[in-house]
Amino acid sequence: MANLLVTDIKSLSGIIENGKEKLAGKEMAQLQSIENAWLWVENGIINDYGSMDSIPMERFEPNSYSHVSALGSFVLPSYVDSHTHIVFAKTREEEFVMRIQGKSYEEIAEAGGGILNSAKRLQSMSEDDLFVQAKERLWELIGFGTGGIEIKSGYGLTLQDELKMLRVIKRLKEISPIPIKATFLGAHAIPLPYKKNRDGYIKLIIEEMLPAIAQDNLADYMDVFCDQGFFTPQETDMLLVAAKNYGLKAKIHGNELGFTGGVQAAVRNNALSVDHLEYTGEDEIHCLLNSNTMPVALPGCSFFLGIPYAPLRKMIDAGLPVCLASDFNPGSTPNGRMGFVVSLACTQMRLLPEEAINASTINGAYAIELSSEIGSITRGKRANFYITKPMSSLALVPYFFGVDQVAKVYVNGVLFGSDQ
Ligand code: NIG
Ligand code: FE
Repeated sequence: MANLLVTDIKSLSGIIENGKEKLAGKEMAQLQSIENAWLWVENGIINDYGSMDSIPMERFEPNSYSHVSALGSFVLPSYVDSHTHIVFAKTREEEFVMRIQGKSYEEIAEAGGGILNSAKRLQSMSEDDLFVQAKERLWELIGFGTGGIEIKSGYGLTLQDELKMLRVIKRLKEISPIPIKATFLGAHAIPLPYKKNRDGYIKLIIEEMLPAIAQDNLADYMDVFCDQGFFTPQETDMLLVAAKNYGLKAKIHGNELGFTGGVQAAVRNNALSVDHLEYTGEDEIHCLLNSNTMPVALPGCSFFLGIPYAPLRKMIDAGLPVCLASDFNPGSTPNGRMGFVVSLACTQMRLLPEEAINASTINGAYAIELSSEIGSITRGKRANFYITKPMSSLALVPYFFGVDQVAKVYVNGVLFGSDQ
């Protein structure tokens, strides 16, 4: 583990010193910074920082650390991507073309495409091949500035294939330089053999999948796609209560396709987060206000499917915390660049750059219970951060959409790509 000194930082931003695990409402527009700063990393952990005017050079033993000058650049905490599906077997560009020709995401799913299409392909791929592909995706995302991530199963949809996916995620955890949380998403869709026997599939999840997952400690959370054409709020309740008995906290895919009660189900089940939220009205906002559930928007999905964006502006103005994640998956969002997600949040959802950075760092960490470890520049947290290209203001991060301002990524204080 490395010692590292970064000096001459134009702006060290995203500092949190008050122990907050998440930011809400007006707080979200505040990104605490030190201009002309230094940052000291010891054994991979942020040890100290301050202004260059008072840098304590005598503290840093010569030849015991690497030194980098960040002249003209910002240093920002790495993104925390709290919602991805990066374990998958194959891309689905043929469905993308069908959508261009006028078919909707739901129509394609109805006809056996969508999630079921991904499941068919994943079922016939070996665990090793899935692992190799997913590792490549993970490494690419780290290079884009992601410093913590959640990964879901949900393309297996049989006992053995859900376990296979979760084992792949477990193997990724073992070799990944960034922390990973694993989410069991067996309730992603009703698989074809159960089309006329929904209860049978729910029973399979509760009576066979959950015990097997718990036995091998393969998941941290349980997610349900609670939406039109997928799982009902009542089914969601049943699944999440069962998961809780195995120690798995809840997450929900909800309100992507309509006002379907996903938000209320999330709050009822004390979910860590409810994700998508393209259909969120006053009732949903009110419900979230009285909860610990983090609302998570996935603007890359709205962009790619041409569906509404979640009303994050309204939600922040109502005093809620909000979070941004990529949703990287082969169907609705074949992209995991958090820099682009941040751009979309500013251009399409009217978030300020500071709000978008907080939403994709500290609030992402909250959504996967890693706020004490990552998500901000804080003494004692992992040194997962990036140095930007030289830039005049923070707003250039979202302004140059599709082109990241990330120049050098550090993971546990080590320049990413230099040792992995
Ligand atoms: O978050 N909405 C549900 N699940 C994924 C998409 C899955 C797929 O189309 O493969 C999502 O968008
Ligand atoms: Fe998703």
